[in-house]
Amino acid sequence: MNLYLIRILLLSAVQVCLVIADLENWPTRSFDLQVQQRAQRDVSYSIPIDQSTQFGVSVKALVFEEYGYSTSALPSFNGLLNMGIEVLTIDLYYNNFTSKWQLCPAPFPLNQTSTSISTIHNLEWNGKTYKCEPDFTPSTLMAEIRDFITGTNTNMDANYLQILYRLNHFTYPKRTLNSTVDLNKIYKSTSSPYNVLGNATLSDTMSLLGPYLFTPTDLKTFRASTSEEDRYFYNQSDETFPSLEQFIFTDLKRATVAVIYDEVTSNPAWYNYTSSDNQTIFINNGSVNLTLTSMADSEFVQTCVDDYLNSSNIDSGTDFQRLSLDTHFRYAYDDDTSAFDDTKFRAMIRCGYSPILNSSTYSIDDFNQNNIGEIINHYVPLSSWAWSPKSANVKSEGNYSMDDESKDNEAVRCVLVYEHGWYVGNCYDTYPFACQHSDNPTEWIIRNVKKSYFDAEKGCPKDYTFGISRSSMEMLSLMEAIAASDVDFPVWIDVNDITVINCFVTGGPYADCPYQRTVSTKGLAGLIAPSFVVAVVVLLLLSLEKIFRVNPIQTNRKRFWKKKINEHNKTEYEGVPS
Ligand SMILES: *[C@@H]1O[C@H](CO)[C@@H](O)[C@H](O)[C@H]1NC(C)=O
Ligand SMILES: *[C@@H]1O[C@H](CO)[C@@H](O)[C@H](O)[C@H]1NC(C)=O
Ligand SMILES: *[C@@H]1O[C@H](CO)[C@@H](O)[C@H](O)[C@H]1NC(C)=O
Ligand SMILES: *[C@@H]1O[C@H](CO)[C@@H](O)[C@H](O)[C@H]1NC(C)=O
Ligand SMILES: *[C@@H]1O[C@H](CO)[C@@H](O)[C@H](O)[C@H]1NC(C)=O
Ligand SMILES: *[C@@H]1O[C@H](CO)[C@@H](O)[C@H](O)[C@H]1NC(C)=O
Ligand SMILES: *[C@@H]1O[C@H](CO)[C@@H](O)[C@H](O)[C@H]1NC(C)=O
Ligand SMILES: *[C@@H]1O[C@H](CO)[C@@H](O)[C@H](O)[C@H]1NC(C)=O
Ligand SMILES: *[C@@H]1O[C@H](CO)[C@@H](O)[C@H](O)[C@H]1NC(C)=O
Ligand SMILES: *[C@@H]1O[C@H](CO)[C@@H](O)[C@H](O)[C@H]1NC(C)=O
Ligand SMILES: *[C@@H]1O[C@H](CO)[C@@H](O)[C@H](O)[C@H]1NC(C)=O
Ligand SMILES: *[C@@H]1O[C@H](CO)[C@@H](O)[C@H](O)[C@H]1NC(C)=O
Repeated sequence: MNLYLIRILLLSAVQVCLVIADLENWPTRSFDLQVQQRAQRDVSYSIPIDQSTQFGVSVKALVFEEYGYSTSALPSFNGLLNMGIEVLTIDLYYNNFTSKWQLCPAPFPLNQTSTSISTIHNLEWNGKTYKCEPDFTPSTLMAEIRDFITGTNTNMDANYLQILYRLNHFTYPKRTLNSTVDLNKIYKSTSSPYNVLGNATLSDTMSLLGPYLFTPTDLKTFRASTSEEDRYFYNQSDETFPSLEQFIFTDLKRATVAVIYDEVTSNPAWYNYTSSDNQTIFINNGSVNLTLTSMADSEFVQTCVDDYLNSSNIDSGTDFQRLSLDTHFRYAYDDDTSAFDDTKFRAMIRCGYSPILNSSTYSIDDFNQNNIGEIINHYVPLSSWAWSPKSANVKSEGNYSMDDESKDNEAVRCVLVYEHGWYVGNCYDTYPFACQHSDNPTEWIIRNVKKSYFDAEKGCPKDYTFGISRSSMEMLSLMEAIAASDVDFPVWIDVNDITVINCFVTGGPYADCPYQRTVSTKGLAGLIAPSFVVAVVVLLLLSLEKIFRVNPIQTNRKRFWKKKINEHNKTEYEGVPS
């Protein structure tokens, strides 16, 4: 058994080294960020997936334009996934000559000096040069996404990925339009080695994601199986979606694919959606209604900044209930002329829009930055709708770090809402507290009464309970309620990590950490193939070490884990050949 364990440990060490080598030039998430991202995911379990606010990136603008449409782009692409980017905009090009979807924005001509399908070709097209590798197809990206998903399919790390397709067609150079025959000779030939690459239909491009995809068919099943009689708030929407918890942990889904832009199917000579496309992809204005907004729309940006975020203009009549129920999958994307800055990026997240970076350069600390690692590293800490960012550029009160030993030793275990978001504070300090309506989570009462976190539970009026903002829109409504009241920041909400340090939960001081229960093979077996269970448990325990680090309030925890591991060894490791 010991030999077996050692082998597993060696194997995982090798894996860790490989990952590190891969990400050599990439930032990694700090421990604080991982805790914050997980806590934010955990509190939003009950929120429908269409109300999630996540950080997005246009893969073409930030990755391909810089590194080419080839395997050299993969380390950066994986870097995005590993940093917790959850919305990926992917531009697909329909090649009318080969009838295939490709990532490269130009067709491959036959007159190339080399016809090798795995070398980089410099393609001249419409006055631009693209570095393209013919066998770098949409499936290549999907294979990376699939590997990321299988590698993070644990209760600790599973997240929801949104893949947004933009469907483009090649714009034919005016110069050659006159002689279509020549074009066909150059680009369309049955003997072309490029003709066999790629997939002919959209649903084929994502077939690798198979069971992890939540499809329009799944949505139909979901809507047919849930009853409208349920009084749960989000059930009142005309277009209901499963909660994050059901999506990830019951249905075991990890991703959705939606078409947000389409200049291809409007011309029936090019491409028609197949019935299988319609069953796997959400088509905007077809099977789903998305809310897409451009940062170039200055009126929209001003509405968010002036009407929602400026506390001197609070319009207490803003209908957050309607926004939460009637708008779905809200995105705000920029471009080269309207690139996000810190203020606008934060503003969009606070207003409930998933920001999508789509510009080639960003001004970071007064410096024009086009290195994707630097850009992502800068924006990820600003990307939480819940937690206050700790960037030097955004003022934030409170000063405890998740990693701070003094946090462990004092009772700094409870969450306060400041002007810029959540921060941990000392549970015994007295502050006003947020009372949330039991039937409408966007309705709050904040009274000028100060209590400790422990006493806040008993302090709310009838029909209200000590509350928590579980989504960006609930957070925005809470911020407005605080601004409209006679109370100053900060304000207690019902989130703490009292039971297990760095495992943030809601439901008062005695709420359990969900991960306590997951480190049993039964819980994991549902998510991971049995042969990996042992390895994953060992890895989990290693990675949990920091989370479940000895904790002065409950020093017997170390013994508890030792016992758990021993029990586990007895029951599970026996019978494994060593
Ligand atoms: C695309 O292909 C179709 C069928 O092969 C052809 O009729 C059409 O002219 C082509 N369009 C362009 C712009 O080449
Ligand atoms: C191949 O054909 C294209 C289109 O006519 C032309 O622009 C390019 O220069 C040619 N390349 C080679 C290597 O002949
Ligand atoms: C198209 O090609 C023909 C002969 O190849 C030429 O006479 C004609 O001027 C061209 N038309 C345009 C618009 O370039
Ligand atoms: C899609 O294209 C990839 C790469 O060419 C290929 O390996 C895969 O089998 C295709 N998938 C389907 C369903 O045709
Ligand atoms: C209604 O809410 C319940 C939870 O209270 C949930 O299980 C169910 O799926 C919801 N139904 C719809 C249509 O959203
Ligand atoms: C798309 O559908 C139209 C109408 O049914 C048909 O005429 C056309 O040929 C189809 N296009 C393709 C590329 O199959
Ligand atoms: C797929 O959906 C589109 C619109 O959403 C529709 O026009 C088309 O006919 C559908 N195709 C099939 C094969 O059902
Ligand atoms: C969807 O509908 C809205 C309004 O009805 C429209 O502004 C938008 O352009 C449509 N989007 C697509 C992709 O058709
Ligand atoms: C999209 O919104 C329109 C108008 O609100 C509605 O009629 C339509 O049913 C919605 N589509 C879907 C797929 O829910
Ligand atoms: C908030 O709005 C007030 C009044 O419209 C304005 O004077 C003030 O400059 C605004 N503050 C910010 C930070 O935009
Ligand atoms: C991204 O930027 C390009 C050009 O800069 C623009 O055409 C496109 O609409 C933008 N949006 C998305 C979502 O990619
Ligand atoms: C936080 O800041 C306050 C004063 O602003 C200081 O007294 C306190 O020691 C700081 N705490 C930590 C953990 O740095």
